[in-house]
Amino acid sequence: MTAQEIRKLYLDYFKTKKHAIIPRALLVPQNDSSTLFTSSGMQPLVPYLLGETHPLGNRLVDSQTCLRAQDIPDVGDNRHTTFFEMLGNWSLGDYFKKEQLGWFFEFLVDKIGLDPNKLYVTCFIGSEKYNIVKDTESAKIWQELFKTKNIVAKTVDIGSEEDGGYKGMQDGRIFYYDDSKNWWCRAGGIDAMPSGEPGGPDSEVFYEFEFIQHDSRFGKFCHPNCDCGRFMEIGNSVFMEYLKTKDNFVKLPNKNVDFGGGLERIAAASENVSDVFEISLLRPIIDKLEILSEKKYQSHQESMRVIADHLRAAVFLAADTVIPSNKTQGYVMRRLIRRAIRYAFDLGIEFGFFENVVPVIISLYINDFPELKLQDKLIVEVLTREERIFAQTLKKGLNELNKLGDKLITGQDIFKLYDTYGFPVELSVEEVFRLGYKLEQTWQTDFDKAMKLQRDRSRTAGKGVFKGGLGGNSEIHKKYHTATHLMYRALKDVLGEHVTQHGSNITEDRLRFDFSHPQKMTGEEIKKVEDIVNQQINNDLQVSFHEYSTKKAINELGAVGAFGDRYGEVVKVYSMQGKTATKPFSFEICGGPHVEHTAVLKEGNKKFKIIKEESSSAGIRRIKAVLI
Ligand code: ALA
Repeated sequence: MTAQEIRKLYLDYFKTKKHAIIPRALLVPQNDSSTLFTSSGMQPLVPYLLGETHPLGNRLVDSQTCLRAQDIPDVGDNRHTTFFEMLGNWSLGDYFKKEQLGWFFEFLVDKIGLDPNKLYVTCFIGSEKYNIVKDTESAKIWQELFKTKNIVAKTVDIGSEEDGGYKGMQDGRIFYYDDSKNWWCRAGGIDAMPSGEPGGPDSEVFYEFEFIQHDSRFGKFCHPNCDCGRFMEIGNSVFMEYLKTKDNFVKLPNKNVDFGGGLERIAAASENVSDVFEISLLRPIIDKLEILSEKKYQSHQESMRVIADHLRAAVFLAADTVIPSNKTQGYVMRRLIRRAIRYAFDLGIEFGFFENVVPVIISLYINDFPELKLQDKLIVEVLTREERIFAQTLKKGLNELNKLGDKLITGQDIFKLYDTYGFPVELSVEEVFRLGYKLEQTWQTDFDKAMKLQRDRSRTAGKGVFKGGLGGNSEIHKKYHTATHLMYRALKDVLGEHVTQHGSNITEDRLRFDFSHPQKMTGEEIKKVEDIVNQQINNDLQVSFHEYSTKKAINELGAVGAFGDRYGEVVKVYSMQGKTATKPFSFEICGGPHVEHTAVLKEGNKKFKIIKEESSSAGIRRIKAVLI
């Protein structure tokens, strides 16, 4: 079965279980500054898991494109990729453990045809500290499910991953692990959860590749969570019913299910191949690389995997309108592209290969992701342009680096490579190690100093933003979100209806808003916008939302949205209206959350102020504004 078929089968299967199929969210999270990229299926749904009503109901299913930039260093083995699709289904206070585990088991065994004898599952062992019980409920459900296939499923208490290394399988099929393995939230383990974060115990399913021998470097004995490669996790059902408070937990308004399963991994299990690069969404890319390099995958696995993964990620980033740059998402995109080129260079593949490989990648997705069809030329253009830019500098940079070999490499050297040749820092460091050169101990500090004038250029995936710092739902975040709506309307009033949102990003410190407008705003226009927003804050508009069919919201009621956003059939529209007004001041399609009354924005005697208005890209302006 191809991965494409599995994706379809999954969506169709859950549709028969009354789930609404929702479109994937973009790789760049909207109105959520906690991470650079969408890295799990639940991320765009957090407001609903916290209790907001979803316009399409309380059973949802999708295949969410995800990017985990923090996994870049791991790409090259048989199962890590930065980009992947996460099959996901959600119950928002509807069904719970019994349905979820039963349906996933049925999907794997009866729809995909996996041998149930090769499936092993894990459950949460409980937490005394937080008074959360052992999940024997899920274990019992699993026992019943295995029994339907005449499999006796013995339970085994493990604890941590390390414990597993000396406890081993013990003929078990259901394994209890602690929160390091069977507790899920966006921030890691149970103790690391920030206040306001939802989470819960989870139950994972593993597929066994019997032909892989346990490798004792990973522990004396093998067990499902062992990293030797014999077991691969193919799906995780999170029973999301808890909300972290300052030092304990309370129950969320709803008992939710958050399921996520890697499409590529499920496809690999269905073929009984332990290498995800062999599946139908990746192998054709490898085939092309074999032709271009005149080398065999078998003997160049690592390089070919890196190129295939990174270019696939870059294609989707381009589809989601990210442009290679020296900042944030654009920087990660640049890094992926340049790493791919670096590895291709090693294989002897000449520059100019993007125009051969990128269309292969697009062709694998074009039938299922119409946005690629609409933009295929643009994607090729963006990527080949970046390839050309890098081509001019790579050889020079490598020569420069080679010349440095007989001395200790300093932070200044790395900075020069970055600044003069556009070498991503990580690439230089990797290259230094590959060549067997030595880095001065203080290189990082020296590099940082050299970068101080370009500080935000050095903000990379590994630092800060990815550590799971969660904004998103705090009060100040809501205030900025509401202020964004007010400002969007004010911009249209002052500059004209052509103003369209092209991006929004909110942190605890400011809002940022990109919009279409052909020229710089004048001081007078900026002042007008500020005055209108402050006036509406003073007017204490009431903020509320309703659901409408998308057609009605946009065509009949004139709701505004953001450029490039795709909507399902029903949308949530937020309106902000004065008590005596006959129509709302702002009427905008949006998932929330917002404050309930605009007057709270002036709490502490604050005023709305635009602190920056600049060009973002051709025809797009960028505003940063604060409540101060
Ligand atoms: N959100 C869960 C995960 O990413 C399903 O594993």
